[in-house]
Amino acid sequence: MLGIVVFAALLWGGVATAAEQNVNPRINRNYQNPDVGQWVGVFERDGREVWDRRFDILDRLRLAPGQSVADVGAGTGFFTALMASAVGSTGTVYAVDIARNFVEASVRRAAEQGFDNVVGIVNSQQGVGLDDASVDLVFISDTYHHFEYPLTTLASIRAALRPDGEMVIIDFKREPGISSPWVLGHVRAGEARVRAEIESAGFELVERLDFMQTQYYLRFRRR
Ligand SMILES: C[S@@+](CC[C@H](N)C(=O)[O-])C[C@H]1O[C@@H](n2cnc3c(N)ncnc32)[C@H](O)[C@@H]1O
Repeated sequence: MLGIVVFAALLWGGVATAAEQNVNPRINRNYQNPDVGQWVGVFERDGREVWDRRFDILDRLRLAPGQSVADVGAGTGFFTALMASAVGSTGTVYAVDIARNFVEASVRRAAEQGFDNVVGIVNSQQGVGLDDASVDLVFISDTYHHFEYPLTTLASIRAALRPDGEMVIIDFKREPGISSPWVLGHVRAGEARVRAEIESAGFELVERLDFMQTQYYLRFRRR
């Protein structure tokens, strides 16, 4: 009888993901206590495509004044500040990262640029730490492949989205024979597998843009 109860509990939607195995152990070891200045030199260097194309990316997010949005895996916060500008003083940007130094730097950077509409959240690998039904858009740049529990994290993103909320993922194209050895070694899954994971987590693809050489852009809504 006890076995049946436990089995039934495991079948229960939210609980099923609690048993998810870590798909990417150690990938975040460099972000345990990051030196923000050092990472500015990595994330904000010319030649990094999401940095070079940041204004094109911002345009394609189609943010509107007053929206609540999240930059999940905010890093050094350059997207957070751009998003803060786009949603304006009536909107909110949540700068979400597992590294407190990055969260604090993202909030500080926006404030230095005159934006006080950024709220920092230090999250865990088990969820993004946003309230249910609280955001219109979740943006994830080069961070999906860092999710150690992608299905668990996607469930928490799905819960955080408002009913018509959307999620944009930009990540590396991973094509054996074409992608760099670094990408092949560092990024665990290519676009097709990422898309399948996200669709299995209750999302549907609404837009796919191919305007970057090394990165793909996928936009999903809750299914
Ligand atoms: C490659 S960096 C990308 C930073 C930024 N989005 C950009 O494009 O410059 C990956 C970031 O994701 C963060 N990260 C890793 N796993 C995360 C998770 N589960 N939730 C939120 N942030 C995470 C890391 O601390 C790091 O700041």
